[in-house]
Amino acid sequence: MNKKHLPIAVFDSGVGGISVLKELMKLMPEEDYLYFGDSANAPYGTRTTEEVRVLTLNAAAKLYERGIKCLVVACNTATAAAITLLREEYPDIVVIGIEPALKTATDRFPRGHVGIMATQVTLREEKLEHLVGRFPDVMVERIPAPGLVELVEQGKADAPETEALLRELLQPYSGQLDAIVLGCTHYPFVRKTVQKILGDGVQVLDGGEGTARHTSHLLQERGWRKSGGGSLKMENSSGRQELLDLGMELL
Ligand code: DGL
Repeated sequence: MNKKHLPIAVFDSGVGGISVLKELMKLMPEEDYLYFGDSANAPYGTRTTEEVRVLTLNAAAKLYERGIKCLVVACNTATAAAITLLREEYPDIVVIGIEPALKTATDRFPRGHVGIMATQVTLREEKLEHLVGRFPDVMVERIPAPGLVELVEQGKADAPETEALLRELLQPYSGQLDAIVLGCTHYPFVRKTVQKILGDGVQVLDGGEGTARHTSHLLQERGWRKSGGGSLKMENSSGRQELLDLGMELL
């Protein structure tokens, strides 16, 4: 069946995936999007891998039942824990998972010093080890950022307390890094503050645009890109209107 006219589902533990949705909509404005944020269960990044897996599979099952042509897992944490299972479970749709943009960083700095800021789950999963292992000439710093996802979920991306937390986390790397990879989809919303703390000489990278390009490419390959129209439906498991409002604001 040609699924061309079905929507693209975009999933994250909360509002973070909106940083990816933005790139998808920029590249493919004529598509219909169904965004689901699981804020009732966020953050995922401090949970066990098994918990993240179950939450992700449950959310994916509900989205799939509604009839979609593509599932974009706009959450590095959920990708690290469940992407292989999702691909096995849904071979009849396009399943994409975002990953830290380390490749981009290493292309630009093949012998460089690169930081990856991500959740605890992403940093401890085997998937990241494989990725880092592909670039033995690059020195990689793993930088966890406990508390940052919560601040973004509370709409405090630009608040002084967020800047204070980022200063504390990033100060030890000041003057050392060539690039920093934002390996969690909540973090692009604090990009300006990260840039300000590390200075203009450091490249701040994320995987949103690359994920959008990859999605477009795979849909094109199957003949599933639609033309004309375009819509967005935003849903959140918390049922809280302020999270939907925050989502629209971030978009
Ligand atoms: N936005 C998610 C990611 O990209 C994680 C946020 C969370 O900890 O729930 O990793």
